Amino acid sequence: MRTAGTALTLAATSFAAALALTVTGRVGAQPATTLARPGSFDEVIQHTSGDLFRQGQQIFRFDTFGDERFWSDTLRLHQAVAGASNGGVGNGVGPAAALAAGLKVDVDMVPQSVLAGIQSGAVNLNDPANTLALINARAVLGVMPASNGRVGFTCALCHSTVDDSFGPGIGSRLDGWPNRDLNVGAIVAMAPDLSAVASLLQIDQATVRNVLMSWGPGKFDAELFLDGKAFRPDGKTAATLIPPAYGLAGVNLHTYTGWGGVPYWNAFVANLELRGSGIFYDPRLNDATKFPVAARAGLGNVRPAGADDGITSRLPALHYYQLSIPAPAPPAGSFIQRSAESGQSLFNGRARCSTCHVPPLFTEPGWGMHTAEEIGIDDFQARRSPDNRYRTTPLKGAWSRAKGGYYHDGRFATLRAVVEHYDRVFGLRLTETEMNDLVEYLKSL
Ligand code: HEC
Ligand code: HEC
Repeated sequence: MRTAGTALTLAATSFAAALALTVTGRVGAQPATTLARPGSFDEVIQHTSGDLFRQGQQIFRFDTFGDERFWSDTLRLHQAVAGASNGGVGNGVGPAAALAAGLKVDVDMVPQSVLAGIQSGAVNLNDPANTLALINARAVLGVMPASNGRVGFTCALCHSTVDDSFGPGIGSRLDGWPNRDLNVGAIVAMAPDLSAVASLLQIDQATVRNVLMSWGPGKFDAELFLDGKAFRPDGKTAATLIPPAYGLAGVNLHTYTGWGGVPYWNAFVANLELRGSGIFYDPRLNDATKFPVAARAGLGNVRPAGADDGITSRLPALHYYQLSIPAPAPPAGSFIQRSAESGQSLFNGRARCSTCHVPPLFTEPGWGMHTAEEIGIDDFQARRSPDNRYRTTPLKGAWSRAKGGYYHDGRFATLRAVVEHYDRVFGLRLTETEMNDLVEYLKSL
């Protein structure tokens, strides 16, 4: 027995040594992703990865899930965009007005001649026909052309913007960055027929328009169509800021109030907000006290007529693409390095930030949910969600979403205001320098 044991140990040692050599040799020679042997399962995984990424990007940018049936067939929004001169109604929306409403144009999708015309002033930016041409070129982020002049919306409408490289509102795509200029409410309020929304909420169309106009740029109210609450007790809009869709990998719960994981929320949005055609199941929405509108409309169990599910099959690739979008790194020189280093020590030490914002995720691994009391704010928005809590927001890329402010409703205009809030609520007694250091650290994430 003893002899056999020794032999086994010896064999194991030399095997380990050989393995270490092989691994070191290979890792040094080429990146792990090129290792898949033809016909191996590794190769299957590699191909799947590439396919999911490519499909997911297309879905995120261009897939309406059939929602033009709601936005155009039902609300007739496309007619308001086109204007009477193009077979629609009203004055229509020229490119200048579209840009003013926060819509963004992907410069790489606009024909060179049109770009030249915009530059020289030859393209009339007040003519709705030119907006239609941009939409038909699929150049307006998140606005997709459909048959018979209809339009539909995609995820990119709210969760993408551009880098303004050509001009204000016109540039290269920045997928995942929240569009904090976009006035969703003002755009939807243009729809000639809001009776479907009015009857869902059991209010009249004029009231629907008032609610939509109260949101303002960069905001949307995802819970309005569940609970019918348009305003907070203090009279301000109940809409929340559009959050980023970057830096989601490794984060368990999504939305400001932790409704679920990314695939949960993707299905939710595609079905219940964009009004695409698919299956959605969440019996939590049958709670008629908390979600009277959703319970009444049966949103907790949505089944499309026939076999017309254009959403479920898109969820894997959409999820995959979103997880691929990193939070953007801060531009060089945008924060003071030494100060940020002191801020990091405070963040992980005396200021106790890292107890919830655990680096490098900057949210909790696990169930990162907190009561309003724990973070020293009111519980209005928390109570509009199943778990009555706020989710710890991942902080990476916080510098890139300063517009609109911080916290779910943008109540803190700056990072400095957030730090002052915590200083007060947690009784941290931070000095002026320490607060600045924390802010510099937050800007560096
Ligand atoms: C009309 C604007 C709008 C559109 C279009 C939109 N979203 Fe959102 N999205 C929001 C808002 C607002 C929230 C925050 C909701 C909340 O916290 O209650 C949100 C939250 C999210 C989140 C959670 C992010 C986080 O970690 O908190 C994800 C993921 C997301 N949306 C994905 C999508 C996908 C995928 C699509 C397309 C199917 C989409 N969204 C379309 C406005 C939009
Ligand atoms: C008890 C857990 C907890 C602690 C401790 C905590 N946070 Fe937060 N933090 C949250 C939650 C929850 C939110 C989301 C609040 C909301 O959206 O209304 C948040 C939001 C933020 C935001 C806003 C992010 C955005 O994009 O809107 C910043 C910045 C932030 N915290 C920084 C800090 C700093 C700095 C500290 C330490 C001084 C800290 N947090 C301590 C839980 C915590």
